[in-house]
Parts: sequence; structure tokens; C-alpha cells
Amino acid sequence: MTGLINAMDQFGWATMAGCLDEDEGLLLGRECEEACQKGAFRRAGVGRGVGLVVHEDIRRDHVLWMVPGEATQEQQRYLDKLERLRLALNQRFFLGLFEFEGHFAIYPEGAFYKAHLDRHSGTRERVVTVILYLNPNWQPGDGGELKLWTTVGDKTGEFVLIEPRLGTLVCFLSEDFWHEVLPAHKTRMSITGWFRER
Ligand code: OGA
Ligand code: MN
Repeated sequence: MTGLINAMDQFGWATMAGCLDEDEGLLLGRECEEACQKGAFRRAGVGRGVGLVVHEDIRRDHVLWMVPGEATQEQQRYLDKLERLRLALNQRFFLGLFEFEGHFAIYPEGAFYKAHLDRHSGTRERVVTVILYLNPNWQPGDGGELKLWTTVGDKTGEFVLIEPRLGTLVCFLSEDFWHEVLPAHKTRMSITGWFRER
């Protein structure tokens, strides 16, 4: 966790492999798959509130929002980790992060999410984005990498490609970093969320 916090301090983004034990990650992945088979996922939208619309040309993932107070044991274990991260971020950066909102996301084969920023225009709620990947057998060539431009406010220069491997966690300042999900060639699963300010 210290490594993650230091990288956030230095760069505004950070990634950490092996953030969950393999069996914990596998169980979360299974929950995600099962919920999907039950039809619990919805096409993800763009925008917020009444302005939320499905835009196939921008994003093609399906999401299932986590409901506060309704987490399974496995989900709660991850939420407990996030709570420690939230407190560490607040302590180090004097942020007023007060809650986490998040969803499972599934990118079916061919799905992508074009370059975007996570903070909705005109709001200050989403401060830090946190993503956990749940793909046990991800191989180079499976696609679905997260492309994260590493200069604040820029989407043309230097970038990193982050492989969506089981247990890899990524976080970055939501307002600052452009990012995109490259087309997935195999089903791609994750939990994406945000620490919010009031
Ligand atoms: C998002 C997003 C990236 C990823 O859901 O806003 O950018 O790697 N996800 O899943
Ligand atoms: Mn995003």
C-alpha cells in the first residue's frame, strides 16, 4: 500500500499487481460471471442522472452497480481493502474522500471504452478512480488493456498500457488522466469505482 500511495504522490496514478490473493480474486470473478448469467447487468451509459444515455460508439461495457449494505462476503473483503486505501489517501493528501461508489463491469468480446475523463463536467464528486481486474487467464493478445495517458490533461502524448490481469489494481486522479479501454478480444471483467468527495 505504501508503494501505491507514493506513486500517487509522485505521478497521480499507480498500479499494483497481486492486490488480492488469487482465490479471493477468482471468487469475485465468479460472482461477476454468475450475476451476468442471471441477467443482472445493464448496458453502461454516458453522462449522469437524466442525461445518462447509452452510446454504443463510446462504450460497450455492461455494468452492475454495487449496492451499499448489500455486499457479499467476497465483495466486503475488497471493500475493506478499499477502506484502508481511502483512509491512507486522506491521511497523506489531506483529501476529504468520504465514500466509494463502484460497479462490476463486463466487456464482451469486441467491447471498448473510448478515451475519456471520469469526472462528470460540472461536478467535483469523483476524485480518485480505482479499478480491480478479475481476469484469471489474461494473455497478451486478449486485448482490453487500459491505455492511460500519463501527462495531466493530455490524450496525445506518453501513455502506459495496463494489462487487466486478475488481482491488478489501478488508481488515478479522476479529473486529471485521460484513459481508454482498448477493444477486448475476450470477455473482460473488473470492478471499477470512485472515491468521492461530498
Ligand atoms: C471506466 C473505465 C477502465 C477499465 O469504467 O470509467 O475507464 O480499465 N474503466 O476498466
Ligand atoms: Mn474511466
